[in-house]
This record gives sequence, C-alpha cells and structure tokens, in this order.
Amino acid sequence: MGTDKKSEPLNRVDGRAKVTGKAKYFAEFDIPGVTYCVMVTSTITRGTINTINTKNAERAPGVLGIFTHLNMPVIPGWAEPGNPNAKQPAGGEKYRMLGSNKILFNGQPIALVIANTLERAQYAASLVTATYSKADHQTDLLKNTQKAAMPGRFGDYSRGDDKEAYKTAAVTIAADYTIPIEVHQPMELSGILAFWEGEDKLTVYAKTQGVKATQRTLAGAFKIPEKNVQVHSEFVGGGFGMGLRAWPQEVAVAAASRQLKKPVKLVMTREQMFTLVGHRPYTIQHIGMGADKDGQLLGIYHEATGETASYEDFTEGTVAMTRFMYACPNVTTKYRIVPLDRGVPIWMRGPGEATGAFALESAIDEMAYKVNMDPLAFRVKNFTEIDPEKNKPFSSNNLKEAYQLGSEKIGWDKRNPVPGATKEGEWLVGYGMSTGVFGAHRGESACRAQLNPDGTLVLQSATSDIGPGTSTAMVQIAHEVTGLPVNKIKFELGDASLPPSGSQGGSATVSSVGSAVFDVCTALKALLAENGLAFEAATVQPVIGKSATLKQVLTAQNKPFFEVTKSSKGGAEQEKYSMYSFSIHFAEVRVHPGTGVVRVKRVVTVADSGRIVSPKTAASQMIGGVTGGIGMALMEEGVIDHRYGRLVNNNLADYHVPVSADVPHIETIFIDKPDPYSNPMGSKGMGEIALIGFSAAVANAVYHATGKRIRELPITPDKIL
Ligand code: MOS
Repeated sequence: MGTDKKSEPLNRVDGRAKVTGKAKYFAEFDIPGVTYCVMVTSTITRGTINTINTKNAERAPGVLGIFTHLNMPVIPGWAEPGNPNAKQPAGGEKYRMLGSNKILFNGQPIALVIANTLERAQYAASLVTATYSKADHQTDLLKNTQKAAMPGRFGDYSRGDDKEAYKTAAVTIAADYTIPIEVHQPMELSGILAFWEGEDKLTVYAKTQGVKATQRTLAGAFKIPEKNVQVHSEFVGGGFGMGLRAWPQEVAVAAASRQLKKPVKLVMTREQMFTLVGHRPYTIQHIGMGADKDGQLLGIYHEATGETASYEDFTEGTVAMTRFMYACPNVTTKYRIVPLDRGVPIWMRGPGEATGAFALESAIDEMAYKVNMDPLAFRVKNFTEIDPEKNKPFSSNNLKEAYQLGSEKIGWDKRNPVPGATKEGEWLVGYGMSTGVFGAHRGESACRAQLNPDGTLVLQSATSDIGPGTSTAMVQIAHEVTGLPVNKIKFELGDASLPPSGSQGGSATVSSVGSAVFDVCTALKALLAENGLAFEAATVQPVIGKSATLKQVLTAQNKPFFEVTKSSKGGAEQEKYSMYSFSIHFAEVRVHPGTGVVRVKRVVTVADSGRIVSPKTAASQMIGGVTGGIGMALMEEGVIDHRYGRLVNNNLADYHVPVSADVPHIETIFIDKPDPYSNPMGSKGMGEIALIGFSAAVANAVYHATGKRIRELPITPDKIL
C-alpha cells in the first residue's frame, strides 16, 4: 500500500446480510421483558408548562410509567453546574430534557410514556395533555441578525488588507447567499434500547456514529465508569451526521429504564426526527470578490451567519474553504451564530463546508463570467501551489489533473459557453462546475488482530459503519497487508468494548481505523516472523528452514491464537503539510423555461482523495454524496411557520429529497494517487467531498442554461421563472 498499485473493487463484505435482512439494526433487538417508550412533545415554542395531566394516560392499559419534569429521576451528570470554563451558550439557556417546566423549542419532549406494547404506549401518550404559558419566540434568522455573535471556536480571519480590499479591484462582485434548514433523515429512525443490571451497569443498543462517544455520554450522565456502559451498534441505517452525539432523549430513556428496572426501547417517529436529532442550520452568507481584468483574484470577503439554539452553540466550518482554496492576497472571513428558539443543529454531511462552498463556488463562477473567462480556466489561473492560510505545502494536490479529467469526460470544451444559448427541444441546456474540499483528518484508533489456528484473521475495533462500507475497506487493507483472501478475514465493529476508535465522522474512518488495521497487520507479520511463520501464498506458512505449521506453533506454545493490539495516530511529519481531499463536480442540466423545472441530466465527479482503498464502496460514496447534493441544490428545504415556530413540512411527503427519477447516471473518477504523508495507505477522506460544492455546480449550470444567477437554495421552479 501507499504505492501506485490499484486496489481491487471488492463487494461489500456485509452486503448479503444487509439485503437479506440478516443484519440487525438497534430497534430489531428484543430482550425479555422489553417495554416501549413514546415521547409527548411540546406544542408551543417558548414558555413554560403550567400543568401536565397524565392521569388518563396512567389508567390506560399496559402503562408502566410516565415521566415528566415533575417526576423525572435526577440525571447526576446533568445536575452538575458544568465546567466553569465552558462558555455559556450565546442564548444563555441550558436544556435538560424533562429537567424543568421550561420550553425552549417546539417539539421538545415533555413526557415519556412507557407501556408493555408499542401500541399501548402510543395510545397512552395521546391522552397526556398540558397547558402552557406562552412566551414570545424567535425562529427567524433574518429577523434576529442583531443577535449574531462570534462563537468561541471560529475567530475572524484576515490576510492582506482588510475586508474592503476587494472593492478596489478593477472587477468586483458582491452578493448574498441563503441555505435553508436541511434535515438528515436517514432511512433508519433514531432511538435506543436500554437496560440495567443493578444500578450501575448499563447496556444499550443504539443508533450512533460512535459507540465510544455514546458510551462516554452515558457514563458521564450517570456518573458511572465507562466500562460499565456497553454500547452495541453494529449496523446503522444511515447517519449523515445526526448520529455524532447521543441525544438527550437517549439519556432520558436510560434514566427511565433504571427507575423502572425494565428494558426500555425508544424508536423516534419520523416527525420527531425533524426536530430532535439536529439539522443543517439556516445560513446566510455574503461574499464580495475582486479581480483584475485578466482574472487574477485580488480580494475576497466572506461572512457567514448561521442559526444555533438558545441553549447550545453549534459551529461549523462554513467559511473555512475561502481561506485557502485560491491564490488571493487579501482574504477576510467572518463567522457568526444567532441563537434561536429551535432545537440545536448538528453537522450534516459536508457540514459547514458544503454551505460555504455553495457561496464561494457560485461567486467564483460569477466572477469568471464577469472577467470573460471560462470558469475552469479561471480556477486554474487562481490555483494555489501552497495553502495560503497555513502557509504550508499541500501533502498532495492533484486539482489540475482532476479539472482536466472531469472536463474531458463531460465535454466541457464542446459546450457553447454563452449563457442561455443552448437548447434541446423546449429545454435550455447548461453546464456548471465547482470545487469541493475537506480536511483529510486522521484520529487515534486501535485495532486488535486475532489469527486463529485455521488461518482466519479476526480484526476488531470500536468504530462504526453508517453505510460507507467500513468493514469492506478494513478487510481490503488487511488483505493487502497479509495477502490472506478476503473470505478469511473478518472485521468486527459497533461494540464499545472493542479497542477504542473515534466516531465515524469527518471523513476520517479509513484514515484512522485503516491505519490501525494496517499497523496491527504489520505487527502480526513481525510476530509470525519471530515464530518462524509468514503470510505466504494466501495463507500462513513456515518460513524457509522451518517446518512447524501455524497450528503446531500455537499448540507448542499452548495458545489458542496469536493476538496483537495496536493503536495508531498521525505523527509530527503530518504537521508539516496541509492535508485536504478535493472534489471537482461537473453537472449538465436541463431547465424548462415554461415551468421552471430543473433536471440534472449528467454528472461527472472527480475525487482527489489519495489512493483509493476500496474502489467500489468509494464510488458508492460519491454517488450518495452527489445524490445528497442534488437534494440540496433542487429540493431540500425545511420550512418554519414563524407564527408558531414549527416546522411545516415535518414528513417525507412534504420535505422533498431526490428519488431515483431525479438522479441521472453519476460518473465517478478517482485520481487514485497515494498521498505520501496522510497515512500508511496513502488515502484521504471521501465522505464529505462527495457533497461539498455540488450544489454550486448545479446553480452554475442553471446560470449557464438561463443567464439567471440563483443564490438561494433550493433552486425551485418559482425562482427560475
Ligand atoms: Mo459526517 S457530517 O462527519 O457524519
């Protein structure tokens, strides 16, 4: 590995289990005596509960317990005043679910109803009533920009002259961009199944992107040792970021389970998934850009303002890309958050970078047209050899090659570059492109390897797989290091008792866990060598001059198997470089001038994400990300009725996502060149760059088709007409 040798495209090692129903998701686990929890949620957006009536519900058949703020057991970790150094959220509130009669957002749980069947819990929950004192609420970002505050984490950035610099250039543009609320809505609903042994040993089956993170949250909430909390989450039906934390309702269900001394299962409703597991925040951005007449960028000013909750600051890298993507002497970025009476947002695929890339890459396109340059040539002209923000070389950057491969494939040079000039029947034809980028992160991760006497290899790590095919990639790495056939290698994950790994997020799993797999397999090789054995011809053989087989060596040493555990993380070498994965998206669209309908007709997407460890699942990542990008560009929009502070389209009939008919063939191209510094495989992340920038490629294609620049997502027909 770490060479130019290409990996074979493996099928998913767990594909059969997934399509035959053998794969079990958290809600499918049942244990004796399991009980069912249904949440009752607030119908106001801000205020207090005056009365809550649970009497009728208590008398309903099968009801075992009802928890409200009046009788909720104290969750010790929540009762703490908290870290005195922690910054108070900008909104100044604290949210402890069922901890008080305060309502901080619409849809906040006000009661947990637990019964011996799901239907009985649902019925009893329907009998709970509450009266409230309503207070004024604020859910509209546009009306609350005066509350915008700089979050602790992302300070302002500036190089060169101040924010006015771009205005002195020969050619300038300035505009605002809007991204609506988007929600993750993976197929699998969120929730938890929790049960206790005694008062201090908790086991949960949960939907999470990080079994260790969920373990830490629960251990902290109940003030019990981490080892007393066992978290299982082997299969996860999609996450896109919403599983990157254990949510308050999961902790509350565990508390209810301890109080009732019964296993309790909560599966959230689809509607609750719109308010209680985060969302991509509504964000407004302003970009000002200046260039000389030859298309050399001279200044960029980028300001982003996103929503957060009154009770928690949520931040993301919305302006991150602008700081380093292009060679530009004067760059200023500002990032602000506005506390609203809403549930807290969370990272959603590509997180802030996807939001920022829509604005930046739309502006780049606009500037290219304004200086009479091809948008591709404009990007190449402003290519930067080094990262101008960190002032470091990139560990690898094959953008120029990516631009070329993608443009050839889509036929970029064959298009008529004049906007609004190409028609096919009644439809206008447009081509657009954009760049995406995301940090190539690598975290600490551990892996245990067990080599059995029959030559099978079991690898274990407490990581997750929300869908990208983690096990497949890990088996592939082990196969390439050891030469063992893939059907002799098994990778186990989704269990917090395994060697620790980080959460599956930030496109870092292959780099982090894969490095541990690489290192543990390499260590296993050394261990075999010490014992006169070697991986040879797809099996384990005695080395030349030795005769004892693997089985004989183990028997002689009275060992059931060979075992090695390795922990792995990036070193000082990596600090010398700026590490990013890049994507180039090309989209061809059709726009109907009579109806305003936009169809994405063709997509070519190129990833410069180092050496591709698992080509088949990597291609699926790109296809999934672009599909999400089509949703972001054309359909997805959470609409709030600000009179009530409530999401109007809190269901999948009204919240639109792309269906198969909306998604054309997506051509994926990988540069597939190893990054010399990222990790032993030479890989860089794939998950986020698949989505980041794509919405700008569509918006730019719509501009090319129609001559109309749309800066507010999603690009629905009303905005075209
Ligand atoms: Mo991703 S937003 O890191 O799950």
